[in-house]
Amino acid sequence: MLVALGVTGGIGAYKAVEVARGLQKRGHEVVAVMTHAATKFVGAVTFEAITRRPVITDQWDPGANADIEHISLASSIDLLLIAPATANVIGKLANGIADDFLTTLYTATRAPVLVAPAMNSQMFSHEAVRRNLDRLAADGVRFVEPGEGYLACGWVGKGRLAEPDEICAAAEALLRPGTTLAGIRVLVTAGPTLEDLDPVRFIGNRSSGRMGFAVADEATRRGALVTLVAGPTSAPAPAVHELVRVRGAEAMHAAVMQHAATADIVVMAAAVADYTPTVVAGQKVAKADGDLTLVLKRTPDILKALGQRRAASGGPAVLVGFAAETEDVVASARRKLERKQVDLIVANDVSRADAGFDVDTNAVTLVSQGGAEDVPLQSKARIAAVILDRAEQLLLVRRAAPPTPDPLKV
Ligand code: CTP
Repeated sequence: MLVALGVTGGIGAYKAVEVARGLQKRGHEVVAVMTHAATKFVGAVTFEAITRRPVITDQWDPGANADIEHISLASSIDLLLIAPATANVIGKLANGIADDFLTTLYTATRAPVLVAPAMNSQMFSHEAVRRNLDRLAADGVRFVEPGEGYLACGWVGKGRLAEPDEICAAAEALLRPGTTLAGIRVLVTAGPTLEDLDPVRFIGNRSSGRMGFAVADEATRRGALVTLVAGPTSAPAPAVHELVRVRGAEAMHAAVMQHAATADIVVMAAAVADYTPTVVAGQKVAKADGDLTLVLKRTPDILKALGQRRAASGGPAVLVGFAAETEDVVASARRKLERKQVDLIVANDVSRADAGFDVDTNAVTLVSQGGAEDVPLQSKARIAAVILDRAEQLLLVRRAAPPTPDPLKV
């Protein structure tokens, strides 16, 4: 496979030489693309000698445009890996600025993009940088998190470029997607549901859809045929086998019941509204004096309905639900596991600021019949991988000993 290795102007640029070698050892071809600043840290000749290919350092190199090189490279690479990525380049990528070869290549390619940030810890935690990283994550860019430790600037903190081995392993995972879910049908729900009050108003919640999207993306990467039923979200949905957009809980219920009939694994990550207005006004409701009372009715509990249908007449081998908890996380999750007759509950402690709704990280407890497992704070992509690891194990168990449907149990 062909990897474009983008090297930008950080002290970690010397480690990119090891990354290039590591990728080659794994059997990949590497073409190095250096920003102007990167050449101040490491010579292009070093990369040329290692990769045995011309190194692209300038958009205006003679010959660089003979074949509109950034376009031809953009369509032939299997991965764009940027290591180290400075705050400056991250800012450009996040904002679509394409003023040199590397940033132009980023906007021109549709290959997966893996970014290994490296910078001073103060810079890494700066709001502007966090915003840009969030933006890139929402655009589908993957990251190799920087390590903690002694930084070249004398600070100790998070910002040091990840180790070359770790970067190569993350690249390998993107280059050679797994096949552990090949041929398996996975249904994932994500995002909020919005319950309309009138043509312009609705009741909603803060779910961004990112956790469900991460599960759908990871399942696709593992070879599954993924159907994603998503409520309205601003974060873009990942590329999946089938995307079904819905708005309210009723529509999500209908879509899930239909698609679950052929699914092997269902992961209900959506934050489904529990209540919806009893009437939806046809016209915008004008204000009047005094208070306004809204009457709400319960929506169908989709996951519970799936659990009941499976107990009565069979269904998906594995049912995974989510639970937003603020106290007694494991005990309440266990009650939900029983009540909804599901195999695994992913319990979110939503009282933490760095986990749950609308952030890129999450910390969860996985609760099953077998026990409870804490999964510490990490990216939603990695949490998704752990959830699917457990779902795969449950699938194996179920396939070995399928439960007999109990017609009396509803
Ligand atoms: N769920 C569902 N249909 C609903 C509500 C929730 O399928 N109408 C699913 C969610 O997608 C999630 C799980 O059920 O997988 C959450 O269960 P819920 O009982 O709503 O738990 P909490 O959101 O944690 O809320 P509460 O504690 O109030 O029950």
